[in-house]
This record gives sequence, structure tokens and C-alpha cells, in this order.
Amino acid sequence: MKGSVRTVVFPIAGLGTRFLPATKAITKEMLPVVDRPLIEYAVQEARSAGVERFVFVVSTQNDLVTKHFSAQPDLEKVLEQNGKFNELKSLQASTLDPESILYVIQDKPLGLGHAVLCARDVIDEEFFAVLLPDDLVLWDKPCLQQMVELHNKIESSILAVEQIDNENISSYGVINPNESSGNVYKVDGVVEKPKFEDAPSNLAAIGRYVLSKQIFSHLAKLNAGYGGEIQLTDAINSIASQQPVHALKFKGTRYDCGSKAGYIAANIAYARQDPTLMAKVEDILESD
Ligand code: UTP
Repeated sequence: MKGSVRTVVFPIAGLGTRFLPATKAITKEMLPVVDRPLIEYAVQEARSAGVERFVFVVSTQNDLVTKHFSAQPDLEKVLEQNGKFNELKSLQASTLDPESILYVIQDKPLGLGHAVLCARDVIDEEFFAVLLPDDLVLWDKPCLQQMVELHNKIESSILAVEQIDNENISSYGVINPNESSGNVYKVDGVVEKPKFEDAPSNLAAIGRYVLSKQIFSHLAKLNAGYGGEIQLTDAINSIASQQPVHALKFKGTRYDCGSKAGYIAANIAYARQDPTLMAKVEDILESD
């Protein structure tokens, strides 16, 4: 599917402190769910939404991402000689044309908003996507594809939102929704990590955005917000007073792989997609 959103930004320069020490030598996005790293699910999702350009915001020149998405002709040859054709197919599916990849450095982890701002000079199009690989969404039609399809109809910035329980709402950016049509809401504003009593709704933004490039001028003007970080939410809040921003209550199940519980749940959910594998996992769990 070709869409009008051609570029995706993957901010992967965070410290990943919740997964230390696993994230000492690799970034959180290289953690595997079943048999592939989070970043590969993210790239696959972006591809199925029609994206052709992949911008990685990294903390230092991150050769793990380069290595993961590059072709491995020697390994391919070995797999072919050994008749491991399924493995060969998976390996080949995980390569990206080097011409389609760009790296941008975020020197210091000053927040998600700052990470997105670092990509300013490489975004030419009117709208681009931002995808946080640690939010994994499982559904037949990938979440970003659902968003791009909506964007192509209404040419607006789009946030993916999910209904969140009262006790967890203050961990999210929460939208102030205006009129709605089905699962689409006009967004009047967004508040980062509000107290429960101040939350404008129970609809929280997850790690998927289609944003107007005007976001960069709003980000550039921001001071540090919640937690001393430059917050993407604050720039979206500011842009929502000037141009349309919509929220899509997407179809699918999201796993917060930035948390240990969400990461384990994602592994189980993805294992379930392979009944043979899941039967073995269940046997092991039952025998404990
Ligand atoms: P998180 O809020 O999950 O932070 O970032 P984190 O540093 O990755 O993890 P914890 O909280 O310390 O465990 C959400 C996304 O934004 C990126 C992260 O890499 C992740 O994809 N990010 C965050 C940046 O790229 N730069 C930043 O300065 C902050």
C-alpha cells in the first residue's frame, strides 16, 4: 500500500533504564520478542503502512541497527546449502535497502520531543510518522497502517490512542477529546502524565504518531516539561490550537515492551501465533 506518509522516525536514543543491565550493551529496541528484535517489528509495521524511508534517532553511531538490517550473503549461502529455507526467508525479510536508512544522533537523552526534533533536517514531507518500537501492537491490520489510512482521508495529524484504567492514566499523555465520529476524535489538547483528577479523558496516546512537520517549530520553542524532558506531548498540545489533530482509537492489543511485564506478555502473545511453539511453552509451564 502506498500512502502519503513516506518517512518514519524511530527514536531509540533513550537510556532504557527499566531493562538494565540488559540495555548496557544493546539498546532496548534490540531486545527480541520470540525471534526478532523490537526494531524489526517496527520496521515491518512501517513498511506495511507504505513507508519507504527509515530514520533512526540513536544515541551514538548505532552499528547494531545497521548490522541487523544489512544483507548477510555468507550466512544466506550456508542456510541455502543446509536446506534451511524458512530461516533463509526470515533472514532475507529482515534486510533493508541501505539507501532507505538514515541515522540522526541525539547527543543527550533530553526526552522524546528532543529526539524527534533531532530529525528536523531530514524531514522534507508535510507529514511523517513517529513510531516507538517498544510499543508493540498486535492486530491483522498494523496500527500505523490504520493511522495512515485515516490520515489519507482527513489530512490531519493523527495520534493512536487507547483507553487506560484510572489507576494507570497518570503514566501517559492524555488527550482532551472534542467531537468524535466512531473511533476518531478531534483533539483539543494533550496533557503529559496528568494526575488522575486532572486527566481530561481516559484516552492516552501510545507510541504511534502521524505528525505535521510544523511540529518541529513547536518543539524548538519548548523548555523542559514533565520530568525535566522535552516532551513531544507539549508540542502536540501547542499545534492542536493551530491546526487539526485527530486521535484514532486503533484496533489491536498493545504491549508496553518498555516494561518487564509488557515485554513478557508480548512474548507470550507472539508465541501464541505459532501453535506448535505455544504447545511446547504450555507443556513447560504446566510441568512447573
Ligand atoms: P521511554 O520513556 O521508554 O524511556 O522512551 P527509555 O529511556 O527508553 O526507557 P526507561 O524509561 O529509562 O526504561 C520512549 C521512547 O523514546 C525514546 C526511547 O528510546 C524510546 O523508544 N527516547 C526517549 C529517545 O530516543 N530519546 C530520549 O531522550 C528519550
